[in-house]
Amino acid sequence: MTRAASAWSVLLALVATLLVGGASAAAAAADTPGPRAQTILHILDYVGVDYPGAVQDGKVTDESEFKEQVDFVSQTLTMLGELPDRPERAALVTQTRQLLALVQGKGPAAEVTRLAGEIRWAVIKAYQVPVAPSRAPDLRAARELYAARCAACHGAEGRADGPAAKGLDPAPTNFHDPGHHHGGGDHGPPWRGGGRAAGLSADAAGRAGPHRQRCAGP
Ligand code: HEC
Repeated sequence: MTRAASAWSVLLALVATLLVGGASAAAAAADTPGPRAQTILHILDYVGVDYPGAVQDGKVTDESEFKEQVDFVSQTLTMLGELPDRPERAALVTQTRQLLALVQGKGPAAEVTRLAGEIRWAVIKAYQVPVAPSRAPDLRAARELYAARCAACHGAEGRADGPAAKGLDPAPTNFHDPGHHHGGGDHGPPWRGGGRAAGLSADAAGRAGPHRQRCAGP
């Protein structure tokens, strides 16, 4: 498989995972601590990724983002208290208090990210949160979802040549472009607030930001 072809299948697999995610979230809603623990994981993930954008060298660089980070960690503390008691919970609370103090004290980003990640894994272990889909991605359904929700801009085969792509600035990503890559930071998927929309092209977030309205994801 060529590199471009593999990027394309990765995208289809990603869309399929979103489908599975929706179904399993509905299933998980039926039992505790599923949804609450999942929310804690998402929040800690945000803190790990976004805190470096709010504080640099002990100084707040983005006031609203900084407030959000403090809120997020406080919420995590509250939610931990609402999870069923487990032997590990006291330690989780202690660690999260440390994280809160670190964030409030505008501590080093590397430490915040490390501690948030550590707490995440401890929550996953203590509450046995499933972090992988319980069934294989359904690529056929993913193709249908892609055709219905993404192809208008990204093109039927992912070449950014869909009818709605004309005139978009920035242009939709061509998934066959070998320079394109996924990951955290600026290149995170747009529905998580990443993507070039997050910073590399400042005005895109508000104006183009197609994913904000169209595919509100996890
Ligand atoms: C209304 C047009 C439009 C629709 C519909 C759309 N996209 Fe996009 N997409 C864009 C644009 C524009 C960009 C480039 C954004 C940027 O550079 O900030 C983009 C970028 C992306 C990227 C690359 C992000 C990165 O970090 O490089 C991914 C992945 C993506 N879209 C997936 C999807 C998926 C999956 C769907 C359907 C569920 C979808 N898009 C629907 C317009 C669209």
